Amino acid sequence: MDLSHSLHQANTDFRRYVDSILQQMPAKAPLLQDGIMYVMQSGGKHMRPLLVFAAAQAMGCKNEHWLLPAAAIEFVHTYSLVHDDLPAMDDDDWRRGRATAHRAFDEATAILVGDGLQALAFNILSSLPTLGVSSDQRVTWVSLLAAAAGHQGMVDGQAMDLAAEGKTLSLHELELIHRNKTGKLITAAVLMGAHCYAVAPTDQQTAALNTYASALGLAFQIVDDILDITGDTATLGKDAGSDRDNNKATYVALLGVDNARKKAEQLYAEALTALESLPADTSALKTLADFTLQRNR
Ligand code: IPE
Ligand code: IPE
Ligand code: MG
Ligand code: MG
Ligand code: MG
Repeated sequence: MDLSHSLHQANTDFRRYVDSILQQMPAKAPLLQDGIMYVMQSGGKHMRPLLVFAAAQAMGCKNEHWLLPAAAIEFVHTYSLVHDDLPAMDDDDWRRGRATAHRAFDEATAILVGDGLQALAFNILSSLPTLGVSSDQRVTWVSLLAAAAGHQGMVDGQAMDLAAEGKTLSLHELELIHRNKTGKLITAAVLMGAHCYAVAPTDQQTAALNTYASALGLAFQIVDDILDITGDTATLGKDAGSDRDNNKATYVALLGVDNARKKAEQLYAEALTALESLPADTSALKTLADFTLQRNR
């Protein structure tokens, strides 16, 4: 991943922080503990944690408070992937370059790993001792993440995605699925980052960040749909062609690769325009938008 120095450093700090949380809070059941470590230590691009960092930076935040919401959102995101891969959902064998959790362990362990990670996210947000983080910030983070993850957010999108298998949707219906299953958590990452600063963002700043994140979130899933068709399993680290095999409703199925890419490019431009009104350094948000379009995994 070709990212700027500050994002590389943030990623290193993030990984260390997550490791320390997992060491502090082990599960007693060996299979569950192994499963949690397996999925959390198998990499991933850390797009959402880095968005938390980048949004905090765009608000002028200079402390390390971003690490707490960054870890929480990566726990929720990883849980969503573990469950997404289950036989009852996308039934995939590969994730982040390794066997999926239910293949490496068993289905029960994969379900419990996901359940555990979801609860862990809210456990740390509400109570992990962190110097200088206020109760108001914690409540805001919990509320943003819970709303984005739940039955009016990612889970709703996942339900719509499964219900749409084998169907031809309108563009509007497909956009609604993508905005929920993927876009909501990406927007939550950006807004949680904006609330890392002791001074809450203004309505205008929140609106700009929302516009950036909504466009980026949809672009991110459109590129994911494109990579499912154009990528290979070794590079992606997950099953190429899974959407086709499952008859998923995707931007590629509806528009073809070229028009799907054009749509992602329009959304990228929209995201960048929204950054212009923000008070501090938006370079990391810009780099992550670039990465969203250029990535090959
Ligand atoms: C995959 O997310 C699922 C989608 C929402 C598209 P990522 O592409 O961010 O997966 P990791 O975390 O890098 O493995
Ligand atoms: C999943 O979308 C989005 C989630 C909420 C997990 P996909 O099913 O397209 O994600 P991949 O391609 O398996 O990573
Ligand atoms: Mg899926
Ligand atoms: Mg999937
Ligand atoms: Mg996909």
